Amino acid sequence: DLTTTVALRIAKSVKKNPQDIAAVIAKELQNSPSVERTEVAGAGYVNIWLTSQVLLQELQTTKKVIQPAKIRKKEAPVVIDYSAPNIAKPLGIHHILSTVVGQTISNLYVHGGYNVIRWNYLGDWGTQFGKLAVAYEKWGAKKQVSAYTIDELLALYVRFHDEAEKDAVLEEMGREAFRKLENGDPVLRAFWSDVVAVTKKSLVEMYRRLHVSFDLDLGESFFEDKMGSIVQEGLQKHIFTKGEGGSLIVEFSPEENLPPFLIQKSDGATLYSTRDLAMIRYRIDTYHPQAVYYVVDMAQSMHFRQLFATCHKLQWDLPTLEHTLFGRMRFADSAMSTRKGKVLKLEDVLEEGVRRARAVIQERGTAIQTDDPEALAEMMGVGALVYGIVSQNR
Ligand code: ARG
Repeated sequence: DLTTTVALRIAKSVKKNPQDIAAVIAKELQNSPSVERTEVAGAGYVNIWLTSQVLLQELQTTKKVIQPAKIRKKEAPVVIDYSAPNIAKPLGIHHILSTVVGQTISNLYVHGGYNVIRWNYLGDWGTQFGKLAVAYEKWGAKKQVSAYTIDELLALYVRFHDEAEKDAVLEEMGREAFRKLENGDPVLRAFWSDVVAVTKKSLVEMYRRLHVSFDLDLGESFFEDKMGSIVQEGLQKHIFTKGEGGSLIVEFSPEENLPPFLIQKSDGATLYSTRDLAMIRYRIDTYHPQAVYYVVDMAQSMHFRQLFATCHKLQWDLPTLEHTLFGRMRFADSAMSTRKGKVLKLEDVLEEGVRRARAVIQERGTAIQTDDPEALAEMMGVGALVYGIVSQNR
């Protein structure tokens, strides 16, 4: 049940053989009423078996500790914003960070008795849909988008970026297509909604395997019609000012020490920033949360600093807002980039974990007792990956 390395660690300072020290510890512990038996192992480890009675007692206390404190339930909710992948591509291994860390934080709040809203803010809006629509038009197989797999969509997206390096016109076509989508073009709307459906379908399986679930998956597109009033308010309060070429920006004071925050492009197009502002407003008005935690990698820390500072300038009555940041995952020799096709798929990594666990189970043979080796392999493989993340200090 327990093991200790204390004999190995103190051997030097007490100038004794670790095995001899371990023998003393093992013998003394034998006298404890909680201990069933002990042994000295290897270079000086002490292994300890507790009595069943003590184990059961501990289990009882644990049960008490994890029982949610019900009184908190009625308090204002805590919103956890995590996973939030951009749609039209498969999850990459780097998505596991926000997904697992966010789920873990949510689990902790749930156990603490809080009213938790687990929110998957899907990146389902933005110029990438314009680009994808152009790519589909030009190089797509002649079949319905709904018949595409997520990998085929990714291939189109990567192709677009390859070709756009040689032909700058493509970028403009992509932007134009997105503008049309924003203006309600029915063909592009249908295309967009098929792409969203294909992606969502592919996410379900990944989230199931990682034991991740959400209360809401309202993505960026949901805020499409909720930005106009924010832009009006910002203009009225003179927080949004004219920037280059008629764009709208927020400028900060020297004390705030932040670069200008772009709210609207010169062609009137809205941005990630505009939608995040609209979302905070919506969250406050709809859920009156006490806190909103954004579990997002540190590459976006400037975005969140500007975002929160803008909310303060607008003089909104705000909940606690925190960018719960963590580091970026990268390859040993390069950054990960979906658009360059430089990405390791989460699904493949999960498969690799399970494959290795399966090999261990086979190798140990009857030493591992299980009725269902495949279920065990899944549990061990995926569990090891999740543990690899939550065992780190973010
Ligand atoms: N979709 C974004 C990305 O993939 C993350 C969104 C995080 N949440 C937010 N409210 N901005 O980078």
